[in-house]
Formats: sequence, structure tokens, C-alpha cells
Amino acid sequence: MEKNKEIILVVEDEDIARKNLEHILVKTGYEVISVNNGKKAIELLQSTSIDLVITDLKMEQVDGMQVLRKTKELQPYTEVIMITGYATVDSSVEAMHQGAYYYIAKPYKIGEVRKIAREALFKRQLQLENLELKETLKRCKQISSIVGQSSTMIEVQKTINQIAPSDINVLILGESGTGKELVARSIHQRSLRSEKKFIAFNCGSFTEDLMANELFGHEKDAFTGATKAKAGLIKVADGGSIFLDEIGDMPLTMQVKLLRVIQEKEVLPVGGETPVPVDVRFIAATHRDLKEDVEKSHFRQDLFYRLNVITIKLPSLSNRDGDIPLLAYHFLTQKCQAMKKNVQSITRESMELLCQYTWPGNIRELENVIERAVALASGPEIQVGDLPEYIRNLSVETYRRHDSEFPTLEEQEKNYIKWVLDKCDGNKTKSAKMMGIDRVSLWRKIKRFGLEPQSE
Ligand SMILES: Nc1ncnc2c1ncn2[C@@H]1O[C@H](COP(=O)(O)OP(=O)(O)OP(=O)(O)O)[C@@H](O)[C@H]1O
Ligand SMILES: [Mg+2]
Repeated sequence: MEKNKEIILVVEDEDIARKNLEHILVKTGYEVISVNNGKKAIELLQSTSIDLVITDLKMEQVDGMQVLRKTKELQPYTEVIMITGYATVDSSVEAMHQGAYYYIAKPYKIGEVRKIAREALFKRQLQLENLELKETLKRCKQISSIVGQSSTMIEVQKTINQIAPSDINVLILGESGTGKELVARSIHQRSLRSEKKFIAFNCGSFTEDLMANELFGHEKDAFTGATKAKAGLIKVADGGSIFLDEIGDMPLTMQVKLLRVIQEKEVLPVGGETPVPVDVRFIAATHRDLKEDVEKSHFRQDLFYRLNVITIKLPSLSNRDGDIPLLAYHFLTQKCQAMKKNVQSITRESMELLCQYTWPGNIRELENVIERAVALASGPEIQVGDLPEYIRNLSVETYRRHDSEFPTLEEQEKNYIKWVLDKCDGNKTKSAKMMGIDRVSLWRKIKRFGLEPQSE
């Protein structure tokens, strides 16, 4: 009952006044630490978490004002109440200015001290709660911010919201970088298990023995070097969710063992005889065609059905109409924050190229491209020159794709320059940059091909 008492630090050089204050506060139910000078108070603030400071203003050497300043520096959410027998308007204004919570003049009434102390402590508690809330919000946003407005992604979001609160197992399918892990985290975050652990495990990066060891744990002396028993990840995720990434890469023998865990709701640690009960939601993911693997007997059908109660198929990025600009801006703000840079936008030409590109590495690739562009950007915008060469060169390829004839190289160059100039609204500096040549060379080519704007 007494364990969470709030701690008040009383700083007062007059013995009777100090004892008196201490008595009032202890009787009210607080834990009180009292010291008779400012130096001791500051030492204490350096080592002990204090909920409230009540300090005399006038003291030898280190006065109340210094205690106040040091408190705000060391423990910013701790309130300070000033008490003094020399109440003057000046010192009270100064104290409030420096962040004191209240200013009490001697002689004070017991009730007044109690009331103000209670309010100051309440304010601190609110501030701490707010801080915690903001942190949680930030974490939640980080974990479950699935950006996307395309019809396929709206459907995915809907499915996630529908199935997250239940305990059913989910299989997430999608090419590399399409956001499988993000979706898995989001399901966990929106489930009733969100307070418990989310454990991600990549089935593709372990040998069979290691995988069993990691997932199921082992008993002491299960193998040479097993000096201590170790809980497996499935047990660690107890009450929460386990994300089995690249499940298609799990060896068949391990699949049998995993199936048993899902069916029996218990794990048998390596070298153990007694199964340990577990309550875990399984979310699996793969970039493979798991159905085909089942047909070819590379994946057990019974396990497939156990994991695949609900399937979420993530579209490749090039199949998400309109999501590229949205995601590009999402990563732009994210990366700017991380790199402390101030790049506010992406030029139209750059965005056109981003939208034309086919993104074999999907969202992860887009994220990397934007990260690189933010790092390279020297002004407030991401320019074509900040994109990797293979994306910059798209302008040539796109042009080629549009032309069915076989023009000569010369014609091809002329048409290409015309096309780029048109794209850049005739801006030669931009056009030259897009083509990767300098402005003078472009000017020469324009003259040679007779591409100057016609005078009207
Ligand atoms: N819809 C989205 N909105 C915002 N960020 C996303 C979205 N989808 C994916 N991302 C981000 O893209 C990156 C890749 O996503 P994730 O790791 O979830 O993909 P994956 O399918 O698991 O990839 P891999 O197959 O390579 O493991 C992550 O940084 C993730 O946060
Ligand atoms: Mg992944």
C-alpha cells in the first residue's frame, strides 16, 4: 500500500521551520527527504528522482533560486514551490519566471501547503502521462502506418481491420519488399494481443537444427555447449504473435514439428520430454507460390491449411495505382526527419520517372531510392539528377518504347531531345540535367537539329 508514495524534497535552513514542514507532509502521506542547505539539495537532485521540491528562498551560499534552476535542469517535470519569509513582489515574479509552481509567503497555513503540494504533484503526473501517451502514439504510428490509397490497398486495410482482433492465423503473400512484415506488425498491433510480444523469425536464414533450437528452445545439456536451458521464440511470444517470414523455405521435417505446435498448442524444447503450453497467433509470409509448392509436395498441405485461414495478398508496387507519389512523399518526410534535412518536394519530372519505373524491389526499393535522393539533394527539391541512373535513363527507354519505327541514330537523338525539351517546358538547364549532358552541348545539338523555338 505504501510502496508508491510520492517523494517531496524539503530545503529549509531554519531547523524549526524544516521540522514543521516535514511533519505536515509526512502526516499527509508523502515520503519526505529534508536538507538544511541548497548544496545538499542539488546533490540529491543529481542522484534521486524527486516528485516535488519545496524550498526556502533565502539561504546561505546556495539559495532557493539556484535550487529551482537546478531542479528544472535536472528533473524538468518536477515542480518547485518557493517559501520565504521575505516575500517581495520582485522575488516572487523572478521565481515564477524561472518556472516555480507557486510562491508561498511565511507565515503560511498548513492547509495551504497541503493544497498547493497536491496540485503541483497532480500537474507533474499529468505531464508524465502526456509524455508517455505521445511516445506510444509515435510508436504506434511507426509500427502500423500502412500508406496507400489504391483500391487494392484499401481492401488490404479493410481485411486487416476485420481479422486483427480474432485469433485466426494469417498467411501474407507478396513479392519482396511489398510490406509483408509491416502488415504482420499491423495485425498484431490491432489485435487483443498487442500488449504482448510480436516476434519476427526468418525461416530462410537458419539451418534445420538451429531453427528448431531458436523456435522451440532447448533443455540444459540438450547438446554440447547447452549449459543452460533456453526458451524458444514461440514461448517468448506467448500471449502475442509470431511472424514466420519466408515460411516457404522451411524444411519439410520442421514443417511437421510446427504443425504439431499449432495443433496441440504446445512446444517441445530440443532435448526435452515435457511439452510446454503456448498461446500464440501465427502470421506467416512468403514471396513464393505456396499453393504450387503444395502441389509439388515441397510444402505440407495440412500446414498450409492451418496457416492459411486468411490470406492477404499484397500487390506489387506497380499495381498500386496512385500509391507511388503518396509513398514517395511519405518516405521523403520520414528520411528528412531522420537525416535532419529540409527537402520539401519532388520535382514533377522526377515524380514522372518514379511513376514510370516498374519497381522490381517494390516499396523497399522506393524507400531506398528516396533515402538516397534526400541524401544527395542540395536544395529544397528532389531533382532528376538525385535519382539513380537506371531511373534517370528511363526517359530514353520510354521514348524508345513509344516509337515503333526504326529511326536512324541521328533522328532518334533529335526526337529524344525534342521529347525531353517538351517534358521540361523548353527549360534547357533542366533538359540538359535530365539528359546528363551540359548546357552548352545541349545548345549545340539544338542548333544542329534546328530545334530552336520558332519565332512567331
Ligand atoms: N504501405 C506502406 N506504407 C508505408 N511503408 C511501407 C508500406 N509497405 C512497406 N513499407 C515499408 O517498406 C519497407 C519494406 O517493407 P517490409 O519489410 O514490410 O516488406 P517485406 O514484404 O517484408 O519485404 P521482404 O520480402 O524484402 O522481407 C519497410 O521499411 C516498410 O516499413
Ligand atoms: Mg520481410
